[in-house]
Amino acid sequence: MALLHSRMATTFHPGLAAAASARASSWWTHVEMGPPDPILGVAEAFKRDTNSKKMNLGVCAYRDDNGKPYMIPSIRRQRPRLLEKIWTKNAYPSGDWLVFVRLLQRSEPVFCKDILSLAKMSFYPNHPGETTRPSSGMPACSYKVIDTMTHKTCGFDFSGALEDISRIPEQSVLLLHACAHNPMGVDPRPEKWKEMVSVVKKKSLFAFFDMAYQGFASGDGDKDAWAVQHFIEQGINVCLCQSYAKNMGLYGERVGSFTVVCKDEEEAKRVESQLKILIRPLYSSPPLNGARIAATILTSPDLRKQWLQEVKGMADRIISKRTQLISNLKKEGLFHNWQHITDQIGMFFYMIKDGRISVAGVTSGNVCYLTHAIHQVTK
Ligand SMILES: Cc1ncc(COP(=O)(O)O)c(C=O)c1O
Repeated sequence: MALLHSRMATTFHPGLAAAASARASSWWTHVEMGPPDPILGVAEAFKRDTNSKKMNLGVCAYRDDNGKPYMIPSIRRQRPRLLEKIWTKNAYPSGDWLVFVRLLQRSEPVFCKDILSLAKMSFYPNHPGETTRPSSGMPACSYKVIDTMTHKTCGFDFSGALEDISRIPEQSVLLLHACAHNPMGVDPRPEKWKEMVSVVKKKSLFAFFDMAYQGFASGDGDKDAWAVQHFIEQGINVCLCQSYAKNMGLYGERVGSFTVVCKDEEEAKRVESQLKILIRPLYSSPPLNGARIAATILTSPDLRKQWLQEVKGMADRIISKRTQLISNLKKEGLFHNWQHITDQIGMFFYMIKDGRISVAGVTSGNVCYLTHAIHQVTK
């Protein structure tokens, strides 16, 4: 995409515009209009809508109780200071791209010396796109998360999940959401994760964790990382993709990490060398601004404490909106069992027919209007 942008920029440079219009055909004549992204399409429709009561429940980002983007105070304090530092140093990030990683290893309980993490850029598109792309060479199949046949509880369909997982070939990569599943809002309980460990061991599966909402499920980062910790304690060499976009409010900074748990330090060095080879043509050097902010927060005890409280504040606001939705629906006269709104966790709750509601878009100002509308269309 970056390449396409830069080529287009060249083609449409003002100095070249006249020459371009004189040309009989363009390199891009055959390019078809791509379909709009379903989620981003909703965001665009939202912007165009002039209804004063409109609300955006498709947002995949935290919003405050006024529906506004929330700049987390501990992060806000760091931004100018770090930007100044980066600009005055003006260091080219060569070799520096492991900074975030090393700091993470020292500060996070889940990271230890034989774990290798790499600062990440945009090599993490949505799962289906990633795994079903023909060039990936990986046939992909899915496993159940929610009972889509009966929707009895809209809870985690563990037996369905295990049944599907037991059919996949041995030594497959098993993609798991560590917490606050997007879009389903359901996570296995600890005893179910323990059963999952047995299946992973029995089938020699490779557990690939995706953790984009640490802290958003329970308000407690350690509790939300329990499954990953447990897998590691059970001797499973997992790998983990972590995003700090949501829990640090660092959207657009591409801040996260990719962690591989290795047998020992020597193995970690070999794996690291291969990852460096992969990274070089992928993004070469990562954006450092967000990574440095995150590293500063994670390694400063005071800032870290403050940030963890702020994450809890965000999780609590979401939890309180779930409770309010249910109590308002009860007041409206409840035609359905909406229990899953409070049973489900994290930023989203899942409605049938692939509906996902971002609770981050629900505010004290619009919760009554929303519950009334839900009641009207479902009664
Ligand atoms: C489960 C999950 N993983 C990864 C991501 C992507 O995170 P990032 O924005 O840091 O690429 C998302 C974003 O919505 C997500 O929901």
